[in-house]
Amino acid sequence: MEDAVLTLKKWIDESDNVVFFGGAGVSTESGIPDFRSVDGLYNQKWKYPPEEILSASFFERDPAEYYRFHREKLVIDGVKPNRAHLRLAELEKEGHLRAVITQNIDGLHQAAGSKNVLELHGSILRAYCSRCRRPYPAEVINHGEGVPRCSCGGVIRPDIVLYEEPLDQDVMSKALHYIRQAEVLIIGGTSLNVYPAAGLIRYYRGNKLALVNLSATPYDSFADLVIHQKIGELFSRI
Ligand code: OAD
Repeated sequence: MEDAVLTLKKWIDESDNVVFFGGAGVSTESGIPDFRSVDGLYNQKWKYPPEEILSASFFERDPAEYYRFHREKLVIDGVKPNRAHLRLAELEKEGHLRAVITQNIDGLHQAAGSKNVLELHGSILRAYCSRCRRPYPAEVINHGEGVPRCSCGGVIRPDIVLYEEPLDQDVMSKALHYIRQAEVLIIGGTSLNVYPAAGLIRYYRGNKLALVNLSATPYDSFADLVIHQKIGELFSRI
């Protein structure tokens, strides 16, 4: 095994306070495209840029077009957790890992068995009415056609954080707490480009920060270990 992988394995084995913070790259090996890779969601042709479609003002203005994008690009049927999700769930059960903090909205960490998952950007597996806030099952938004409406007449929306919307303060403060207290922080599968989520890295105070990403990130020089490898492959070895 390469030195960096061995070191990471040792850090994890010897700790009961590992925290994982991840992004879209954690789910690419499950068949969900990320946002910023060359074949990612943001490099595909669409009538509007995805960042615009995924914004609160666009959702309000044109929910029909939003839902066309949502059902075609965000909802992928039959996806399963990959080796990264599964190993993280095991590490929690074994008492090494305290929390998974994710920017993903796909629910795959919970599907793998992780219990303490902080979803910074929400989940497409939950929905609620944008007017009266009544909760709805995910099928109502993820399948079918047109704009789903509540009995009150309001538009039903996914429980995700759209651009222009603030993150949930409770989720954010829990994430800060875990990162501040962490002995080992593993950051994986994220380009660390989207704030405020990416800024979480600055709250880490330890000296065991591992960055696992296929491509370089703006924070590589911050890390104590940098591993440019597929995260599912890596987690199957540690
Ligand atoms: P990005 O698409 O910006 O970054 C994903 C990163 O994962 C890239 O740097 C890839 O190189 C890397 N990657 C891809 N597959 C990998 C693999 N198998 N193993 C390791 N690394 C891999 O996605 P995020 O950083 O998650 O926000 O993007 C953050 C936010 O931007 C998303 O949550 C979403 C998006 O706009 C909202 O929708 C609010």
